[in-house]
Amino acid sequence: MASSMMRQFGLCAAGVLACASLAQAWGEEGHQIVGTIAMTRLTPQARAAIIELLGNDDLAKAGLWADQIRGDSKYDWAKPYHYINLPRTAEMIDLSRDCPTGECVVAAIPKFLAKAADPSLPIDERREALKFAVHFIGDLHQPLHAGYKDDLGGNRIQIVAFGGTEAETKTNLHALWDSVLIRHRSRGEWRTLAGEIAASAPPDLVASWQSNLDSVDWANESAAITRMVYKDLPTDQRVGETYYEANIATVMRRLAAGGVRMAAILNRTFAQHEPAKPVETAGGSGQGAPAREDPGQVAPAN
Ligand code: ADE
Ligand code: ZN
Ligand code: ZN
Repeated sequence: MASSMMRQFGLCAAGVLACASLAQAWGEEGHQIVGTIAMTRLTPQARAAIIELLGNDDLAKAGLWADQIRGDSKYDWAKPYHYINLPRTAEMIDLSRDCPTGECVVAAIPKFLAKAADPSLPIDERREALKFAVHFIGDLHQPLHAGYKDDLGGNRIQIVAFGGTEAETKTNLHALWDSVLIRHRSRGEWRTLAGEIAASAPPDLVASWQSNLDSVDWANESAAITRMVYKDLPTDQRVGETYYEANIATVMRRLAAGGVRMAAILNRTFAQHEPAKPVETAGGSGQGAPAREDPGQVAPAN
């Protein structure tokens, strides 16, 4: 057993609850960082629409839901929506080849955004659609979510990360890019890291990211990075500080692009949103925020 797993097990033995929250946080940081960056860039209309749909939850928390329901067979239909696979020899995504039935992350994003903004649909359906869309926007910015079917987007490639050190982790190539590299950078302080990424994103890159809200292009960017990841994969499948130093800027850039684009596409989606009218109460002024029940009880996003 890896020493890091031994240490985790030790923590788990100390308290089942502590273990559960640790296990949940591990691997979720990317979605929380992307959602946190997006929250800072919303227009008032988009913010109002999101509050109406999500209540007290923010985008950092909402982005976790689609992974939390993965064990629920009621949602098995959504499993292929988390990624798109393309042939190893392909330079570009071809939707008629790689997503012929529309069941892939590239098609899922516009589909669920449209549902989230459709006032004719029941509110519960719109809420779920928004949570799916937010999650899939994050997923598509993780390069290996535009990957190869034969190894399940790198899930079948065993990796030892930071071997022989305190941080040694037996993992796989997909999880390395989903979470291990991020966590090595954040040391668990994902909110701090989200702030640093948002503050350091170059304005010209931000402008170019938000000017392109086509999920096919996002997938092509990810696929280009995926090709590089496979080209640079060490033959002994061991990665350490050198690999981390060579790739962490790419990971940070994808998190920044995901957050900026999440906000931009939500701002566009909800541009026509009309805030729900405040409910008139007897003797009340009819003023005030309708969606948040009690501002004093806003739950911290975790
Ligand atoms: N399962 C199959 N292909 C996958 C991919 N590219 N990303 C995540 N999960 C997958
Ligand atoms: Zn996912
Ligand atoms: Zn993943």
